[in-house]
Amino acid sequence: MQRRTDMKQIQVFKGNTIVVLDFGSQLSKLIANMIRKSKVYSLIMPYDTDPSTIAALKPSGLILSGGPDSVYERNAPSLNPAYLEMGIPVLGICYGMHLMAQQLGGKVLRGKKKEYGRRELVVKESGGILLNGVEEKTVWMNHGDSITVLPSGFGVTASTKDCSVAAMEDPEKLFFTLQFHPEVEHTLDGSRIFRNFLFDACHVSGDWEMKSFLKSSIRVIRKQTNGARVIVAASGGVDSFTSVLLIKKAIGDRFDAVFVDTGLLRKNECEEVAEAFSRAGIDLTVVNAHERFLKSLKGVRDPERKRIIIGHQFIKEFGQVAKKLEKKYGEKIKFLTQGTLYPDVIESISAHGGPTAKIKSHHNVGGLPAKMGLKLIEPFREIFKDEVRVLAKILGLPKEIYGRQPSPGPGEAIRIKGPVTKRKVRILQEADFILLEELHRAGLYYNIGQAFAVLSGDRSTGQQGESRIYGNVIHIRCVDTTVYMTADWTRLPHELLDRISQRITGEIPQVNRVTYDITSKPPATIEWE
Ligand code: XMP
Repeated sequence: MQRRTDMKQIQVFKGNTIVVLDFGSQLSKLIANMIRKSKVYSLIMPYDTDPSTIAALKPSGLILSGGPDSVYERNAPSLNPAYLEMGIPVLGICYGMHLMAQQLGGKVLRGKKKEYGRRELVVKESGGILLNGVEEKTVWMNHGDSITVLPSGFGVTASTKDCSVAAMEDPEKLFFTLQFHPEVEHTLDGSRIFRNFLFDACHVSGDWEMKSFLKSSIRVIRKQTNGARVIVAASGGVDSFTSVLLIKKAIGDRFDAVFVDTGLLRKNECEEVAEAFSRAGIDLTVVNAHERFLKSLKGVRDPERKRIIIGHQFIKEFGQVAKKLEKKYGEKIKFLTQGTLYPDVIESISAHGGPTAKIKSHHNVGGLPAKMGLKLIEPFREIFKDEVRVLAKILGLPKEIYGRQPSPGPGEAIRIKGPVTKRKVRILQEADFILLEELHRAGLYYNIGQAFAVLSGDRSTGQQGESRIYGNVIHIRCVDTTVYMTADWTRLPHELLDRISQRITGEIPQVNRVTYDITSKPPATIEWE
């Protein structure tokens, strides 16, 4: 089931909105993120959204993303021609380029050579609007198909050694296409290319900022809730903390922040979260659900099943809290707010059959059963973690909150290989605690995107005194990342790694081996499960 965009939650900034049509590329969100960094609002919509829905948003330009398919394959996502008749500039990237070429009378064929990775661009003298002023010529390619016949009105503006049409445009209609990906950091002047599109072709105002998003979110939430009471799912992470403050700003005291303690959190996390909320002047309802979560996960090995079970249990818990609160206030609770981010939505849509390649079922994105009678409010479903952090700062949250590394909702359950038990959770919590404590002591915690321990499930031979024993293996994972879509493993100093390893094996009797994960994302994911 693909979750459709709830148009009531969509924000629009007139004269300053770009719509990215997603044809199934993981990179679509990087496009949106890059545009917003140019102070232009952008939102991503599925490729088959009705054109009239998009037209109603009055965007200043349209971007067609890349995608994993070939335009000539059966059942490949197609481009509704109405998108090219809206009278606004259109930029097609990779698959988006091929779709535009095909639609406008050009030809696309499987190229003789595939191009993957970095290439040097040769920009034609008449580089057109898009490549104007591009100085760094290194670009990132990822394609097997190429344009062999140009649609009429188009001229080639750049090529590479193996690709004669690396960029082409129709300056009259303001149609632009790129075979390479300006949204990835390996295309060195990518942001210049986007700025050319935004300011020289779409003539956007470029005055959007997170403050505008905040104001507009408050307006949208007020209108949507229309005086009704709301529950906010609080996990203590920056997203949920910020969503609580946002709801408070929008509807005053007509909400309850509810924290479900799954028993799968990090050591001391529940106490720390409760204290942070109390410092922010917010009453937190804490539900101790340790036993119920553990029972529901009994014997479950498969990570996807773990996520789904945990998601269902969360829904049950919130349903029960809603009933209790309804009794207390004598009125219906109509909404549940959660701090779902864009990457969570897109990865889950993919997992449920959207165009993007399958990634995983996010524990909290599946929607709510109709019988619960609660509607979801997800103020951050169009934005990224780094953008929420900016919002958190604007709302006056301290660094301990806005700089806090994310923890996945399923917590330690997806960091324990195999079935989850109380004993395993405790071992992992201790190892994780030591890791974070050492990172804080070394002053590195806030420089790292995410750091955690994994209980591998392997048994390892070790020596204690005279005897050989089988113990547990702990993997340490630290990654550098800002948007969590890609990540590089963190080069921690060897002395620090040594200290972490010595403490974990010295202080936790059940562990006799520690490894450090030196894999980036891709090919690995950040989590092990
Ligand atoms: P991966 O492992 O996909 O993780 O590279 C990317 C980011 O998502 C977090 N993550 C989750 N967060 N529920 C969550 O709330 C989940 O089921 C889930 N799975 C992964 C992960 O910690 C990282 O920040």
